[in-house]
Amino acid sequence: MTPSALVTGASSGIGAAFARALAARGHPLVLVARSEDALDSLAAELDVPVRVVVADLTTTEGLDRVEAELGGVDLLVNNAGAATYGELGDQTHDDLDDAVLLNVLAPTRLTAAALREMAPGSGIINVSSTAAGRDDPATGAYAAGKAYLETLSRAARHEGEQHEIRVTVVRPGRTSTAFHERSGEESAHLPAWRWQSAERVAEAALDALERGDDEVTVAPGDGHERR
Ligand SMILES: NC(=O)c1ccc[n+]([C@@H]2O[C@H](COP(=O)([O-])OP(=O)(O)OC[C@H]3O[C@@H](n4cnc5c(N)ncnc54)[C@H](OP(=O)(O)O)[C@@H]3O)[C@@H](O)[C@H]2O)c1
Repeated sequence: MTPSALVTGASSGIGAAFARALAARGHPLVLVARSEDALDSLAAELDVPVRVVVADLTTTEGLDRVEAELGGVDLLVNNAGAATYGELGDQTHDDLDDAVLLNVLAPTRLTAAALREMAPGSGIINVSSTAAGRDDPATGAYAAGKAYLETLSRAARHEGEQHEIRVTVVRPGRTSTAFHERSGEESAHLPAWRWQSAERVAEAALDALERGDDEVTVAPGDGHERR
């Protein structure tokens, strides 16, 4: 049977593109996010068996629910993520807590559970960013969270070798999704060449995992397709 895949943050953007790309490759899916309507309409459009799991990954209850799914899948895509644009001192407690819970704690918990629960031959894709590790004050907590995710992924890759579980990091550059508007960044004025499509990111990540690559950077303006 074709392996099944669980995608977090599947209700929009890069996560929805992962879901469509995986469905086109014939994989049954578990789709995770908070927006039930968006997940249901995506599920209705796909030609593979789909299970929708509505979960807020900043909550213990949501994380527990998603962890419980991992024994039944062969690919985990840790894609859910968000940023609040602005300097650290200007951010609310909720913004800061969410940045750490969603971008750091959730992929940590799910990567650990995947290493424990998934069968040999399985894979994990962790969605980082070209912003990982950048010291731009406007995106400090986000960039730090993605740098953490990359370090965690390297450790998970070594651990995964013992269980025949591959770990691939995808590092997208600026991608045309709701992410930027949600973060509060003014980016609508940027020219088309600064952007790429979510589909391009998802395809490149799945190809990299299939090849057994440790990581892939997918940035606009590198001579490939743009939005
Ligand atoms: N767009 C870019 O330029 C870019 C560049 C580099 C990296 N990335 C990374 O790509 C990933 C996907 O982002 P995107 O660009 O596709 O943005 P997006 O369209 O805003 O999608 C974010 C996804 O995360 C989900 N999510 C947010 N908070 C959540 C929560 N508390 N619990 C569960 N799910 C939650 C959202 O679903 P709900 O709101 O329905 O929960 C949505 O499905 C993120 O990790 C982001 O850091 C994006």
